[in-house]
Parts: sequence; C-alpha cells; structure tokens
Amino acid sequence: ATLPPISPAPTKMANSLVEETKRIVAQFDYTDDDVNKGVREFLRQMNEGLRKDGTSISQIPTYVTGVPNGTEKGLYMAVDLGGTNFRVCSVHLNGDTTFDLTYSKVAIPKELMVAKTSKELFGFLAKQIELFLKTHHEEHFEAHVRRRKSSKTAEGYEDENVFQLGFTFSFPVQQFGINKGSLIRWTKGFDIPDTVGKDVCALLQDEIDLLHLPVKVAALVNDTVGTLMARSYASPGKTATLIGAIFGTGTNGAYVEKITNLQKSVDGEYDKSTGEMVINTEWGSFDNQLNVLPNTPYDAKLDQDSVNPGIQIFEKRVSGMFLGEIVRLAVVSLYEKPNVSLFKSLSSNSNDEQLPLFQQWGLDSSLMSIAAADTTPELSTLRQELDSQLQIRSASVEDARAFKDIAYAVGRRAARLSAVALGGIVIQSGRLKETKDEPVDIGADGSLVEHYPLFRDMIYEALRSIEGIGAEGAERIRIGIARDGSGVGAALIALVAAGMEKKGIA
Ligand code: GLC
Repeated sequence: ATLPPISPAPTKMANSLVEETKRIVAQFDYTDDDVNKGVREFLRQMNEGLRKDGTSISQIPTYVTGVPNGTEKGLYMAVDLGGTNFRVCSVHLNGDTTFDLTYSKVAIPKELMVAKTSKELFGFLAKQIELFLKTHHEEHFEAHVRRRKSSKTAEGYEDENVFQLGFTFSFPVQQFGINKGSLIRWTKGFDIPDTVGKDVCALLQDEIDLLHLPVKVAALVNDTVGTLMARSYASPGKTATLIGAIFGTGTNGAYVEKITNLQKSVDGEYDKSTGEMVINTEWGSFDNQLNVLPNTPYDAKLDQDSVNPGIQIFEKRVSGMFLGEIVRLAVVSLYEKPNVSLFKSLSSNSNDEQLPLFQQWGLDSSLMSIAAADTTPELSTLRQELDSQLQIRSASVEDARAFKDIAYAVGRRAARLSAVALGGIVIQSGRLKETKDEPVDIGADGSLVEHYPLFRDMIYEALRSIEGIGAEGAERIRIGIARDGSGVGAALIALVAAGMEKKGIA
C-alpha cells in the first residue's frame, strides 16, 4: 500500500503562528455560561431602564402603542438618517401586507457628519427631499411651487397634497411625543455638538418650511421601531412581531412592552387602550459599566481611541462599524509578535506604516464576511481581497488562515452577544410561556444578518443554551429578515401618527 506523502515538518515559525493565533482566538471565546450571565444582567439593566432615566439601557418610550397587522393603507413619505446613506422614499401601503416603494439615496458627505451646526446637516436633508419630490412626485412638487409663491408652510395649511412623513433618525432620542424628541447623544461616528438636546423633528421641519415643501414631519422613528413595524405588517400568518432588531453599522432593538412594566413617567399623550408600548431599548449601551461584557485588550483599545469612549460598549463588540477594527487590532498584535511570521511580504518596507492594516478603521467588516465565506483550501478569494482591500501582497495560505480564524472568532462572539439581547427580551416578554406553540417573531435587518455567513445560525446556537429558552424555545423563535424598516416602517408610524392626530391625542 502507498503511504500518504510525508508532509514537511512544520517550521518553528509556522508553529508559533498557529499557536499564537489560537491564543488570540481563545480570547474571544464567549461560553454558554457567559451567555447566561449576560442574559441575567441584560434583564436587570432592561428593568432598571423601565424604572428610571439615565440608565445604560435607555428604554425609550416611542409613543407607538401597537403593531400593524397588514391591512393598513395609504401613501406616505419617509426619510432615513442613521448610517452611511440618506434615503428619501415614498411608500404606498396596499393594505394586503404588500407595499410599493420609490426611493433615492445619497451618501452623506463625511464633513456633514461632523458639521459645525445642525443647520448644515438638516438643510442638506431638506434639499434632498425637495429633489425627490421634483423627480418622483411632480403633483406634489407643483403644490410646492404654488406654496412657495404664497409662502405658506406645511403647518396650518390644509391640503391633501401635504405628505405625512416618517423621519427615521437612528440615534438615541428622548421622545416627548410621536413626532417630538431631543437628541441624547450622537453615535456611529456622527458628532455635531450643536444638535445634542434639540428636537430633531423641529430641526428638519424648519428646513422643510424654509423651502416651502408640502411635507409634514409626522413621526419620529428609530430604525429598530421601523423594522418592528415593517416586519409586523408583512409577517407571515399576521403574527404580531415582538422585536425589531438592527445588526448593521450599529446595533439596537425595539420591542413591545406592557405599559404596566413601564414605571418611569412618560410625558405627553398616547393611546392607552392597547396596554402596550413599543420601547426603543438602545441596547448598544448595554453594560457600559462592563459588569459582564468581555473586554479583550483589542476591545479596550478600540474604545479608548473612539469618539465616545465608555459608551455604546455593547455596540462596540457587536456591530459592523466596529468588528473590522477589532479584527484589525488583533491581527496587528499577532503581526507584531516576535517569532511569529505573518505577512512576510510586509517586513522591512518603510512604507508599510501607510497600509490600511495599520490605520484606525482601515479594515472594513465586509472583509470578515468574505473570510467566512471562503471555504476553499487555498483561501484564494480571501487572499485576493487581502491584497485589494488591505494591500497585503502575496499573503500565504497560512497568513490567510490566521486572518480567517481571528475574524471568525470576532464574528462568532458578536453573534452570541446578539443572542444575549434577543434572548433577554424574549424572556422579559413572557411570550414563550403565555402562548403554547405560536412563534415568537423577530424582524432583523442590517449588513451582519444579511451578509455575514451563518450569523443567524450562530445566534440560534446561543439561544438554545439560554436558561428559560432552551432548544424548544429557540425552535419557536422566528428571526426573519425585515427589509425597508426605515421606509415602510416609518410610513406605518406616520399612519399611526395621523390616526392619533384625528383622535386628538397628538
Ligand atoms: C445606534 C443608534 C441606535 C440605532 C442603531 C442601529 O446604536 O444609537 O439608535 O438604532 O445604531 O442603527
């Protein structure tokens, strides 16, 4: 019989690369015990947030007191500010769980994210709305031209041509009503100090009015709330959805809470008849105090060098904006280890410092998805991308393997942490106990759930290990992708708002 060929004895160098990679990977372990500890603390912080203001999980009342069932109808407008793009859209709700959506999007100029004044940003947004009306809704645009002549504003101008607009503004906002709320803090790289504490709906309405557009900012919407509404509208079997979650640039969730559990005072009017209110958790700031969250040296460094050290601590371990940076810091630490030979082609070139690998935010999280998706023995796609995205020329298979293992460890920890938040809310809701075999429905959106291979499966794996959920419970939890939350979801809330106005509540 022929014996398998003898493989060359591994060199000391290669060995230490494998060993060191393992050591780093182990730093990202997040065991079933950790998950359970996380859930208990999540529940504690959630309930603290329902009792008082100023807690790390903010638990913001949204004034939305029910979820749609798919029969809602009408034409609404929605805009979305919260990630890399600004989207303007009009949504026709057909009343049969379907909708038609027209939209345009522009990248938000980087300088506007850190503008001196709110006016620069909000003026830009109003201009985009004007452009959208001109392109897609000529009839409304003509109303706008007439209005410009008589210089009337949307307020106090009864006109069926006035669009009710849902404003998806995906940052922490203290709400005072369905279309009122002041910015608590910027997140995700935005930083315009002037806006903090101001009513963002009024800021947008003022700029809209300056252009005399026939548009009324009817509802203020967090993207998670929009996602919850969109999913519930379209949900299979018309199951009322429990959670809307975003795992994208940032991470956050909104869910339906019993009003009796909401013990802190809620200013302003809302419809009490349903006994429920949608709460925007702002879970991105879960455990800012680091009671239970993992904190590797890479996590600590990322936080230290961020624009908001000490806050959004959960988000910094879970969402797309940060995962690439964690991977980068871990890979650089591996590269800098004496005795470890990684990315040989880089050594001794004095220009290497300029390479993306050595720049803060130099590694985009999308590279992690590519790494996870490349399952070929040669890792050729990943090696190509290391070249094109990070300018690491001629990475070896071993290099790529080390990169892939580290990226996977970071991605997997993120998914398991995501399960802590989702599991915590499922337990809080009591829905697994209250009904027997109905699904507990979750709508999710964002680049991680959409593009990171097996992200949802890794969440399910962790959900099964949670006490109070277990394999049976996890089976009943249905996580579905809900696209266009910020469009159709915002439209649905504009509809709710219009209904409240009719009833004289808002
Ligand atoms: C950040 C924002 C939050 C938003 C989330 C997802 O965490 O603070 O409001 O929902 O990103 O976009």
